[in-house]
Amino acid sequence: GRGEGFVIAIDGPSGSGKSSTAKGVARARDLRYLDTGAMYRAMTWWMLTNGIDVADASAVADAAARPVITMGTDPDAPTVHVDGVDVARQIRTDEVTANVSAVSAVPRVRELLVARQREIIAEACATAPGIVVEGRDITTVVAPDAPVKLFLTASAEARAQRRSREVRSDDVAATREALVRRDRLDSTRAVSPLTQTPDATELDTTGLSLDEVIALVVKLADEARASA
Ligand code: DC
Repeated sequence: GRGEGFVIAIDGPSGSGKSSTAKGVARARDLRYLDTGAMYRAMTWWMLTNGIDVADASAVADAAARPVITMGTDPDAPTVHVDGVDVARQIRTDEVTANVSAVSAVPRVRELLVARQREIIAEACATAPGIVVEGRDITTVVAPDAPVKLFLTASAEARAQRRSREVRSDDVAATREALVRRDRLDSTRAVSPLTQTPDATELDTTGLSLDEVIALVVKLADEARASA
């Protein structure tokens, strides 16, 4: 009864392989793709660029409705714009990464971005076969009714290795430390923490290649669709 579109919801900590998996599955089944972490990063970039003190939760809440964040959902060329400016590169800096947990813990920020995410999902379900959505609260808050819900995990070591490769850093130990710190902040915040619920299928990607993970998720999705 939620329209024709098919939603695949994927949560997990940083470096668990969510983004690459979600994109690969979207390509394989001609679905749209939404990286919700990029939206929290875009919000954080805007706060830093506009001189908002991100340690001041009420200042962040007061300013949160000002930036207009627009997402392109083509898995081959996902885009993120703030007030019409392409910020794909700017949102991946260490400064944004270090501050995104604080900004994403502010309830007003989540309220605004979750509403926007639900609009994008509704739009994708109305105009496309569906959408793969990845983040920290997709299976629990954004799309709890999704027919496919996954929780991706991997050992801290494997996640640090992947993240280091992504950001082209040789310092795996430092990457690991930053990643574990951010996971702790994201998992212990008051509003919509990263949590694993029993109705999401856990997939430990530690020993698996990306292609293997994508194939597993596509199989789960096809089975869910066949039994819908
Ligand atoms: O997936 P990522 O590492 O790019 O996400 C960046 C941050 O955004 C992450 O540290 C926590 C936050 N986030 C969130 O709070 N809720 C989501 N659905 C996605 C990301």
